[in-house]
Amino acid sequence: MLEVSIISAGYSLNKSDPGKGEISSILNNINLTVKPGEILALVGESGSGKSTLGLAIVGLVPYLHGTMKFNGEAFSPFDMGDIRSKIQFIFQDPYSSLNPRMTIGQCIREVLVKSFNGSVLESEIVEVLSQVELGVDVMAKYPHELSGGQCQRANIGRALAMNPDILICDEIVSALDVSVQAKILNVLDNLKKVRNLGILFTTHDLHVVKSFADEMIILHQGKIVERGYPEKIFAAQEHSYTAKLLQSAYGLAES
Ligand SMILES: Nc1ncnc2c1ncn2[C@@H]1O[C@H](COP(=O)(O)OP(=O)(O)OP(=O)(O)O)[C@@H](O)[C@H]1O
Ligand SMILES: [Mg+2]
Repeated sequence: MLEVSIISAGYSLNKSDPGKGEISSILNNINLTVKPGEILALVGESGSGKSTLGLAIVGLVPYLHGTMKFNGEAFSPFDMGDIRSKIQFIFQDPYSSLNPRMTIGQCIREVLVKSFNGSVLESEIVEVLSQVELGVDVMAKYPHELSGGQCQRANIGRALAMNPDILICDEIVSALDVSVQAKILNVLDNLKKVRNLGILFTTHDLHVVKSFADEMIILHQGKIVERGYPEKIFAAQEHSYTAKLLQSAYGLAES
């Protein structure tokens, strides 16, 4: 279980000397929990702070006030130690996250060797690939030889090879067409059930969230404005911003 409590997080406004000067506070008073076997969707328009939130959890946002706990134990995102492998971040652009000079098989082997500290059988690589519904043929291919959807599944496979408990997925299906999106969502839904993974799933697309997420959070200008079960929020919105988001996605009447 991942418990996030951010009082504030942001970036330096001083480009010439980032260590000094004013800080832009992007996130304020964020509290959320990613539970095992659950998908928590983080929804908000562009610039609302979704990526910043995911990145803050893994120490990639420079200014952070708050506390993070993994399975009840506090950790610093800037010095995660053993927890680093347990919380895996998957980026939107699948091609930029894989080494272009390594085949998918080599990429996954490298991670397996590190995480299990020993030699790796080919059958173990095949097993990782099968969890993301990729066949043996993909092993000898380079990232540029895969489709966007295949490449994103290879990325998920690479993250799984670290044996994580939590996946942070930042807009990972946004660049893909609808049928490929469905395949990846299906893979994640299956992983959540089979491996009891907790997934923080960031998206600006409400259509994706409706049937897929167990809970959802609406982020607006770096603050949480609404949270709850998707079926409840889709039926009735407490915050006018959520109503506006739904209206623009579905043409629903504002409440
Ligand atoms: N490296 C950075 N340095 C300074 N400001 C940044 C940096 N990255 C993001 N920001 C600012 O933080 C705010 C939130 O950005 P963020 O990328 O978290 O939004 P987002 O919700 O992920 O948007 P999108 O849906 O477009 O990906 C924006 O105002 C953005 O300009
Ligand atoms: Mg983003």
